Parts: sequence; structure tokens; C-alpha cells
Amino acid sequence: MAIERVGVVGFGAMGSGIAQVCASAGCSVTVREVDQAAIDRGWKGIDSSLARVVKAGRMAEDEAKAARARIGAATTFDAFADRDLVIEAVLEIADVKRKVFEELDRLCPPSTIFASNTSSLPIVDMAVTTKRPQRFAGLHFFNPAPVMPLVEVVQAVTTSDETVATLKAFVQRIGKVPVVSKDVAGFIVNRLLVPYMLDAIRVLEQGIASVEDIDTAVKNGLRHPMGPFELLDYTGLDIAYHVANVFFEEFKEPRMAPPPLLKRMVAAGRLGKKTGRGFYEWDDKGIKK
Ligand code: 3HC
Repeated sequence: MAIERVGVVGFGAMGSGIAQVCASAGCSVTVREVDQAAIDRGWKGIDSSLARVVKAGRMAEDEAKAARARIGAATTFDAFADRDLVIEAVLEIADVKRKVFEELDRLCPPSTIFASNTSSLPIVDMAVTTKRPQRFAGLHFFNPAPVMPLVEVVQAVTTSDETVATLKAFVQRIGKVPVVSKDVAGFIVNRLLVPYMLDAIRVLEQGIASVEDIDTAVKNGLRHPMGPFELLDYTGLDIAYHVANVFFEEFKEPRMAPPPLLKRMVAAGRLGKKTGRGFYEWDDKGIKK
């Protein structure tokens, strides 16, 4: 089954990035968000991202315009009934996701594949709330989605091999690199990344080195594009805190538990780039001060 018509639920950083990637690859995309203000923010993100892609010479201006025109956004699910695939990218709250899939399950034909972009919740828990657990999988994109090549295809115990094969082909079709992971907290990338970021915070807590020197060490010693603290600020400390709690719950290993400093920074509202302060200070344009 070839996927041409995609639905995306959520128009935040991930949802808008996913919509942009699918539309740029020629798919028809319909997006649902809760209110007009959120839809306006999603369009703003797409417009600035497409402008960067055009400026970098990776797409002609008319191609970018055509990609944008392939996306439609609304506050209802009305345009979802003919979708081949629906990708959910709403808040990481199990109840919110469950409600979205219950509604979609009533609306979409049995052939529609459902996927969640969750980075922390079990895919199987969502799959069994629908009548199509065999056509339900994880599709985990990375931030910023228009730039990061990887997409993890997550196979829950209920997901059929046919669904995995269809999704792998879809990921390649939209110009990304697929890998297949079992449905275990963190999948492949976050399973490696999260303990590393938590360890960086512990290195700081133990007074071994400063935020700047830890980032400089990783960027220059490992050639990572960002150090762990830049990446924490970029993806959001609240997300890291939430994911660490989920990991600790799943594995019961002390190294997965959120370090005290992370918990306190989240309590103080120092969530990173989005609140102007995390381990670094950020200006209105998202530039590090
Ligand atoms: N949209 C489109 N293009 C973008 C973009 C966006 N939002 N952000 C950056 N770019 C493009 C730029 O236009 C530029 O293109 P060019 O090389 O063709 O000129 C290129 O990406 C590099 O951007 P910049 O020069 O502005 O800045 P950097 O070189 O610092 O790159 C970065 C920015 C791509 C974000 C890079 O720092 C990076 O790769 N960081 C690591 C990001 C990462 O690890 N993400 C994964 C997070 S974990 C996750 O998402 C999992 C989840 O579950 C939490």
C-alpha cells in the first residue's frame, strides 16, 4: 500500500515539522489543532523553516510554495476520513492521545494506518484502544524534523510486519532514513541519548566541569553539533524531565532517574530556549546570549 494522503494531529514543533516534510515529498497533508492560535503558530514555524530551506538552496521558491499549498489545517477532524496514514504529535499525555485515537478510529476506514510520534509512551497502550492494533505503530521523528534524517519505526507486540514494511517504505519516500525498534521506552536513540544527557547534569552537579566546558568538550572531542546542555535547552528541560521519569518507571535503574538539579530547574520554569532560560540564556529570536 502506497501512502499519498497523510493526516497530522498537532501543529506544534514536531507536528508542523512532520507536515512540512510530508508535503515537501509530494503528499497531501491535513492537520488538526485545538484552536486557531495554535494553527497560526504552526504556519509561522513552517514559513520560517521553508524560508531557511529555500535560502540554503535546497528547494526552489515555487517548490516551497507548492509544498505549503499541499497542507491544510483545521480545528476539526473533518478532512481525515480519506487519509492513508495519520501521525499523532500532540502532548505527551496518555489520556489526550487516547482520546485522539478513539475519535480517529470512528472516523477513518479500517485501512488507515495510525502512528504516534511519542518519545516516551508505550505504543501498545494506544494501539489497543483502537480496532486496528495491527495497523498501529510508532513513527518517531527528531527535532528539527525538516533537518534530522532519522525516523524510528516502532513495532509494538500488536503491529503487523506488513504495517512495518509499509511505514519503512513511506519513511524512505519522504526522504528520511528508517530504523525499526521494538516498543520499549526510548526506542533506540533516546535509550542512548537520555542517560547521556542525565549523566552530563550529574557531571555538572559533582562540580567536575562547567556547563560551557562540558558542551565544548563534547562538540570538539566527539564532533557532536551540540553539547548536552545546548541540546537540553533546545529540546526542553521539561521534556527531558518527563522522559527520565518514564525511563525510571520502566527500567527502575538509578541512572535513569532525573537528577535533582533537573527537577529544580523545571520547577523554576527554566525550561530552555522556549522560556528564554535553561542552562543558558536565550533572546527572543532563539539566539544564545
Ligand atoms: N528548518 C529547516 N532547516 C533548518 C532548520 C529548520 N527548523 N534548522 C536548521 N536548519 C538548516 C539550516 O538552514 C542549515 O542549512 P544549510 O546547512 O543547508 O545551510 C542547517 O540546517 C544547519 O543549521 P544552522 O547553520 O542554522 O545551525 P547549526 O549548524 O547549528 O544546526 C541543528 C542546527 C540542525 C539544530 C544542529 O545544531 C543539530 O543537528 N543539533 C542536534 C539536534 C539533535 O540532536 N536533535 C535530536 C534531538 S532528540 C529528539 O528530537 C528526540 C525527541 O524524542 C526529544
